[in-house]
Amino acid sequence: MSPNASDFRSDTVTKPTAAMRAVIAAAEVGDDVLDGDPTVGALQDFAAAWLGKEAALFVPSGTMANQIALGSWTRPGDEIVTEQGAHVVNFEGGATGFLHGLQSRTLRGVNGALQAADVQAALQPDSIHCPKTALVCVEQTHMSAGGRVVPLDALRAVHRVAYGAGIPLHMDGARLANAVSASGTSAREWAACADSVSLCLSKGLGAPIGSIVAGDKDFIERAKLVRKRLGGWWRQAGLVAAAGLYALQNNVERLAQDHALAKDMAERLNSFENLSCDPASVETNLVLVTLNHPDHSAASLSAKLGSEGVRVLPMGENVLRFVTHMDVGTEDVDKLHAALTKILVG
Ligand SMILES: Cc1ncc(COP(=O)(O)O)c(C=O)c1O
Repeated sequence: MSPNASDFRSDTVTKPTAAMRAVIAAAEVGDDVLDGDPTVGALQDFAAAWLGKEAALFVPSGTMANQIALGSWTRPGDEIVTEQGAHVVNFEGGATGFLHGLQSRTLRGVNGALQAADVQAALQPDSIHCPKTALVCVEQTHMSAGGRVVPLDALRAVHRVAYGAGIPLHMDGARLANAVSASGTSAREWAACADSVSLCLSKGLGAPIGSIVAGDKDFIERAKLVRKRLGGWWRQAGLVAAAGLYALQNNVERLAQDHALAKDMAERLNSFENLSCDPASVETNLVLVTLNHPDHSAASLSAKLGSEGVRVLPMGENVLRFVTHMDVGTEDVDKLHAALTKILVG
């Protein structure tokens, strides 16, 4: 595979820019476990304020951020309620059961959005026969629904149900910044629908490593213990926190460019006879395309594209995932279009 391949597999593939590398090189650091690392502290303070939460914790990955939240809100034997395509139950290696002894009740949402009435109906009764519903978990934007933005009124309605039942709500906000950019609704307003929020700095925001988990001070104290147990404490982490802080301060606005490129790409992909994708459903930087071809599966088309210098991810038998980010532009979409024309049209 050429190092110059146009890489649409994920928004995690971006490389730090020269400006980001400069802040990494200049970062002030300390032992974050013993005395606190000043740059980690600055990132945590900035992220907490951005999300409108009392405190935040910097952790290595989005998976760890989510699993810290789950472990901080629940006890073994409890149940969590989430949408059936949610990352926490589909793509985190079974961590909910493996790490925390949780079981999951998954509900079918609308474009990834849990419906309040369904959540209400899924809450377990207070009975010795039943697991305790300990947490409702939502995802914003919703990855497997194709980067859809869960509407604010739907989220607020789910939060009301959870709050009314005394159950906390965790938001997997790996791509919350994309929702902010696409909706014009601030991170604080989105995060107000949740008791804890995770946020990835290493996806569309372009940092090389790192995520945030935020909530009130009591939650963060519990979260620190879970992070410790997961081996997620780190020492001179200011080197990576500097990149995360730069990303959050400088790269939210530019996500609009990724979203415009994704929409344009969806229109061009939809023009092929064997590919279908509704451009109107593309709200952020993810494009899911269904392939209908007698000779190709998603895997074989992805392999063919690879040999033309274009990388994409098969997601199941007939679905391909294309993601835009700061390291792809119009010229990469042109290259993709030319490669698809060669493979599908001849
Ligand atoms: C919605 C969602 N949540 C969480 C994660 C986990 O992030 P990480 O790969 O940093 O563990 C991802 C990663 O793709 C994601 O898409």
